[in-house]
Amino acid sequence: MDHFIKNIVSLLKEKIDLPEDEIKRLIEIPPDPKMGDYAFPCYSLSKTLKKSPNVIATELSNAIHAVRPIAETKAIGPYVNFFVEKETLSEITLKTISEERDNYGIRSAGKGKTVIVDFSSPNIAKHLAVHHLRSALIGNAIYHIYKTLGYRCVGINHLGDWGTQFGQLIVAYKKWGGENAHHAYTVTDLNDLYVKFHQEAEKDPSLEDEAREWFKKLESGDPEAKNIWQHFKDISLKEFQKIYDMLGIHFDAFVGESFYNTMVQDTVTRIKEKGITKVSEQALIVDLEPYHMPPCLLRKKDDTTLYATRDIAAAEYRKKTYDFDKMIYVVGSEQKLHFNQFFKVLELMGYNWANCCVHVDFGLMKFKDGKMSTRKGKVVLLEDLLVEAVERIKEIIEEKNPSLENKEAIARDVGIGAVIFADLCTKRSKDVVFDWDEALNFEGETGPYVQYTHARLCSILRKFGKPMTADINFGLLKEDETVILIKNLGQFPSVIMKAAEFYEPSLICNYLIDVCASLNRFYNAHRVLSDDAELTKARILLVNTTRQVIKNGLRLLGMQAPERM
Ligand code: ARG
Repeated sequence: MDHFIKNIVSLLKEKIDLPEDEIKRLIEIPPDPKMGDYAFPCYSLSKTLKKSPNVIATELSNAIHAVRPIAETKAIGPYVNFFVEKETLSEITLKTISEERDNYGIRSAGKGKTVIVDFSSPNIAKHLAVHHLRSALIGNAIYHIYKTLGYRCVGINHLGDWGTQFGQLIVAYKKWGGENAHHAYTVTDLNDLYVKFHQEAEKDPSLEDEAREWFKKLESGDPEAKNIWQHFKDISLKEFQKIYDMLGIHFDAFVGESFYNTMVQDTVTRIKEKGITKVSEQALIVDLEPYHMPPCLLRKKDDTTLYATRDIAAAEYRKKTYDFDKMIYVVGSEQKLHFNQFFKVLELMGYNWANCCVHVDFGLMKFKDGKMSTRKGKVVLLEDLLVEAVERIKEIIEEKNPSLENKEAIARDVGIGAVIFADLCTKRSKDVVFDWDEALNFEGETGPYVQYTHARLCSILRKFGKPMTADINFGLLKEDETVILIKNLGQFPSVIMKAAEFYEPSLICNYLIDVCASLNRFYNAHRVLSDDAELTKARILLVNTTRQVIKNGLRLLGMQAPERM
């Protein structure tokens, strides 16, 4: 809670020689509230003061005269621990949440600043792959987290819609595409054409030359090539959109690699003018040997451009168009080298904004039984994965709460939410192991568990059925379980800040799990609805503010918060 931290900082500032920001950064929350509400570690003072941290903590604690709303200080080991007035803590926290509601947690940190999030970015004529799903979910959460902090966010889907493979596909389509002309083309058909092309090209290598010709035609704007390619793109976008709709994910722009086709030549010229290019085996490269990286390939010997060239052009274009303060690329760890290379080229081009570009990488998603399979045992497409999650949740609801209204919609929110949460709750750089039983469990550290906790709170409020007020006796919210929950709620804004700083949606997941655990401890120890009207009013306020925080947190992750389950 900023309010208390501000007070603690001003108490400490008078006694120690550290900048305010540094003091603020060092303040921690002790794991056990009996030790204090906030703690200041003295390690970093030890060097300059030439005393042990424990001695400094004792001296500092004795020197500080606590004033409201800080009730007391106490040295424990190397820490100065601060106790705050419980009533003030409850009042400030719960009143803030009741006033700000859906906006609780919104800060002005990003006011006037623009962030670009480049996410999902699948390749057309192929199915959306698992890493595009992970990128979609992580990117969407990061987008919402930054938006909540007041940044202007631009979500861009950088479609992979350019490259020599489209020459191959055009050849295949012209030669064998008629076979599927009797039904509407799907991405699966396009996939089959790829496979067929590679089979045939093994027997007849001249097909590769034909494909290169067609891609060159496409790059130079040949109408027939463009028409066929556009057809591929339309089919693919339709399929991608279906999945984004299921996930509730929105992009501000779908701007694929093809968009930069007219700009890449100028980009290449600019890079050349910097004198950092070389010709190697007839290809144009930027030598990155001094930076211990393989060269960045800009142009192949047949004059066609590459993925990296288009990324450089895109970065220039986006800087010009959006004047971003930060550009976040949410792309799997396997592309780390690509990003390091082209960020380096941007730097060598003299762009001081090169260091505003961040590669937010992530691990793989694996499936528990080793393959991505459903109950039917076949390898699934993402759409099937989502549909199956919804179906399985529907069965659980049918068993647990068959009379629930709106079962379909709720099963959708919970099924999709389960997949989202299962993906996001692991630290993003780690691999995620997707396990159906675990992801859909209403009692584990899962999406359904958080949503279910939220629905339970809604049900308590329905039972209460009277208008709520924040005008209560805050002195009544005093038991340990109650205070821990309130402190948890007060941490939400700083958790969002941290999640933004580290591009880490898992921090929001962990936080929500903590809030649910605190809530359950509170709920098991204390009756919310009782004959004591004053106490009921106070606890109802706590229930309602907890509900609000869970709802806001779920929204950051891109999840719904159904009121009944
Ligand atoms: N289409 C690429 C792929 O599937 C991801 C693109 C990521 N974004 C970017 N600006 N490079 O691997």
